[in-house]
Amino acid sequence: MSAVYDRIGVGYAGLRVPDPRFDQAVQAALGDARTVVNVGAGAGSYEPASCVAAVEPSVTMLAQRPAGAAPAVRAVAERLPFQDGAFDAALAVLTTHHWSDPRTGLAELARVSRRQVVLTWDQAFSAEKFWFVRDYLPESAEREADLAALSTVLAAWPLAVVSAVAVPWDCTDGFYAAYWRRPRAYLSPVVRASISAFALLDPALVDRAVNALRADLDSGRWASRYADLLGRADLDAGYRLVTRG
Ligand SMILES: C[S@@+](CC[C@H](N)C(=O)[O-])C[C@H]1O[C@@H](n2cnc3c(N)ncnc32)[C@H](O)[C@@H]1O
Repeated sequence: MSAVYDRIGVGYAGLRVPDPRFDQAVQAALGDARTVVNVGAGAGSYEPASCVAAVEPSVTMLAQRPAGAAPAVRAVAERLPFQDGAFDAALAVLTTHHWSDPRTGLAELARVSRRQVVLTWDQAFSAEKFWFVRDYLPESAEREADLAALSTVLAAWPLAVVSAVAVPWDCTDGFYAAYWRRPRAYLSPVVRASISAFALLDPALVDRAVNALRADLDSGRWASRYADLLGRADLDAGYRLVTRG
């Protein structure tokens, strides 16, 4: 079983602390589900009390699940080891873009559950709205364009309900756009290591982007160029919650 996160997932739980505002949106989408399976579960972020099973291929990620978390199986979304309709709901948070066969994985979620809740992002939107991608690392948008995110999920589930989840300025879950108002965070290799967009991109491209950002921060150019961001409490950076069923 290939598990990229065995390599890039070291230290994940420390920097990817579930954000309460994202948690609220996920729990509302799960509604009254009494049995939930979390697929691509990682260290267990956003799992509700009703989570009875977790699926995760990476041993590095499995090892970061807290004591008392739902029992986890080492498996992939594309082949879920559960019977049809085994759960009220299936949850998949920021994981579909890592699946080798997203269409099959999404079909598996629908096979084993009555409701599906997927947190992903709209690539076109984030490439335009998230300043780091737009102005410093457009190559990451080119790479993201091929990943299984919102358009892939909606191609499988055209009638699903989509809602935007804005990223608070002090977001505790250190995903790509989490630091939109704290730009110095992107200068930290430790922060970048927990963001797959960085960890899977050519290091030379990342270095170039980070050096340009550092220069703009030191010269004050960043602060004047993005002054409008500094007064904002949250930003729609393209994260989308997809609910079906
Ligand atoms: C960004 S992490 C998200 C983890 C967790 N859902 C969270 O929100 O913190 C992506 C996770 O997807 C897992 N993953 C990768 N390929 C997968 C697959 N084919 N099926 C299920 N999970 C997969 C990775 O190992 C990793 O733990």
